[in-house]
Amino acid sequence: MKKVFITGANKGIGFATARHFLQKGFYVYLGCRSQERGLEALQLLQSEGLTNAEVILIDISQDESVKNARIQLGKKTATLDVLINNVGITGNMPQDALNATVSELEKVLNTNLYGTLRVTQSFTDLLERSQEPHIINISSSIGSLTLHSDTSWKYYENANIFMVYAISKVALNMYSISLGNQLPKFRVNVIDPGFIKTDLTNNQGSGSPEEAATTIVNTVLDKTVPTKKFVSEDHDSETKECPW
Ligand SMILES: NC(=O)c1ccc[n+]([C@@H]2O[C@H](COP(=O)([O-])OP(=O)(O)OC[C@H]3O[C@@H](n4cnc5c(N)ncnc54)[C@H](OP(=O)(O)O)[C@@H]3O)[C@@H](O)[C@H]2O)c1
Repeated sequence: MKKVFITGANKGIGFATARHFLQKGFYVYLGCRSQERGLEALQLLQSEGLTNAEVILIDISQDESVKNARIQLGKKTATLDVLINNVGITGNMPQDALNATVSELEKVLNTNLYGTLRVTQSFTDLLERSQEPHIINISSSIGSLTLHSDTSWKYYENANIFMVYAISKVALNMYSISLGNQLPKFRVNVIDPGFIKTDLTNNQGSGSPEEAATTIVNTVLDKTVPTKKFVSEDHDSETKECPW
């Protein structure tokens, strides 16, 4: 049975992705920072008959927590097939170029970039033992430098008010390319799930977490998707490939 670890798996896109992987026959480790919220999510899955899952406590913003999560996971499995770096925060407003604070930038980067780096570096040895290791970093089209410079982009006007979040996703994209270059045996993909109704968007959006989960799981199942692709469900093209 293939094994997947998902960060931020107790709600939103992470939870829906966990459910979808379980329905496809994967064993799922739910990375959650709160034991209570993690167990609630686990119980909900169990009530649906999805029992091949367990919670691993992890706060990706903390070195010690990530180290402990790796130790706990290592007691349960020697191999991991898929890592979904799903956790992301937007940060507080205002965060435009003239008003963003260094401390807000540090806070968001500590989760969205450094957190992903902490988890990836700690878990790579488990993934290396898989026949087909796959890392998916959940990003956003707001992290596309090309789109930010394109006056015809549908979010051109509005994206600037999320500059701190955007910087964190640009940096995450760069990290993903570099990681993919360094791990040729792996597939490393970047996915923008689209504008999805979750707590992160105050339940605004055009898509559901289930739709986002379908995109993520299909990218893992479809072995023809090459490594280092940036795919955006929000991108108006047939291939959905998003420019970096
Ligand atoms: N929703 C969208 O429209 C959209 C669009 C583009 C990209 N994305 C990306 O999709 C990903 C998931 O977003 P979402 O919309 O599902 O957000 P969400 O509903 O706010 O869920 C975020 C998840 O991350 C967890 N989390 C936050 N900080 C954490 C930390 N330091 N350590 C461990 N877990 C932490 C939260 O746990 P708690 O419950 O404990 O807070 C929660 O489980 C993010 O990377 C986001 O940037 C979302």
